[in-house]
Amino acid sequence: MTRRRTTRTFRGTARNLARLASRLQDGDLVAVPTETVYGLAANALDARACARIFAAKGRPRTDPLIVHLQHVRQLSDVAAPNATALRLAKAFWPGPLTMILPKAAIVPEIVTAGGDSVAVRVPAHPLFRRLLAQCRLPLAAPSANPFGYVSPTTAAHVKEGLAGKIGYILDGGPARIGLESTIVDVRDPRRLRVLRPGAITAAQLRQASGCPVQDFAGATASSTQAQLAPGQLLQHYSPRAKVVLHEKLPPPSQLVATTGANAWLYFRRPAGAKRHPLHWLSADGSQAEAAHALFAKLRELDQRKCTAVHVELAPSGPLAIAINDRLRRAAAKG
Ligand code: TXA
Ligand code: MG
Repeated sequence: MTRRRTTRTFRGTARNLARLASRLQDGDLVAVPTETVYGLAANALDARACARIFAAKGRPRTDPLIVHLQHVRQLSDVAAPNATALRLAKAFWPGPLTMILPKAAIVPEIVTAGGDSVAVRVPAHPLFRRLLAQCRLPLAAPSANPFGYVSPTTAAHVKEGLAGKIGYILDGGPARIGLESTIVDVRDPRRLRVLRPGAITAAQLRQASGCPVQDFAGATASSTQAQLAPGQLLQHYSPRAKVVLHEKLPPPSQLVATTGANAWLYFRRPAGAKRHPLHWLSADGSQAEAAHALFAKLRELDQRKCTAVHVELAPSGPLAIAINDRLRRAAAKG
């Protein structure tokens, strides 16, 4: 058992960043803001520091970590990039794209779950970038939530989940995008594969790389065991409430009255909806707004002690695959 720690949240002042950078250099953990979701960072080259990530999250060691870099120049320190990877880096970094590449020997096995590939990304959040620059280390960081729960999009979410388990949270405000990065396997440039859908779509990857891209195939029950696509566990973003998916919810006037333990989560605010138990992800149907709101909404409904949430899937649009992937996982609870 690790001892219980006081968890403190820091604003991004120069003094705080210097202090947090030195904590990372000493092998400690720091929760960090990114443009996608908050991450729980450690020195990616220090196996003992990375082991603390798995302990704090209760994450199985079979689930590998993403390595975050300050600049694409550091890519060949941790991975063996090909020309396609460099093209994608140029198009999308800093930003919400993680690439799977052959790993460099310097990356400890715990980061890659013993595999010979490594996940790498250059994040866009300005505070995280300053921290990366100051500590001058690649930082391994999964989402900063207890394993299996909804990813955190604010510093307060991180504290709710990991208080007592970590010492430091850097507060960079609410995550701009709100969904985890797109993960693409670029080891074979003749056939790129999207392993996790995110804000960067397969069409964008196709256009920027000039390569064929196999879009996200959907999480399957059989992939829960397979190490072919680690981390593609079907149940992975689960709120405590039971999530029931609907292609389309009926208008509020047609909902059968039930107890307050039920909630209805519309994609777009329906006419006439005012308050609980009616909720929505976006006022006007914006996909970006819905993505930004999704995880916070699922957490809110848990806090309201809803036992069942009826959720409307996103209609087609740029983020629909990514949003609906997270909703299907949330609903996949056994
Ligand atoms: O947006 C993000 O990607 C956030 C922020 C913090 O950067 N991070 C994040 O990390 O979502 P995490 O650990 O929650 O999800 C990373 C996923 C996992 O499903 C993991 O299995 C997969 O990336 N992954 C890591 N290394 C891999 C590898 N070598 N091959 C295939 N999948 C890998
Ligand atoms: Mg995660």
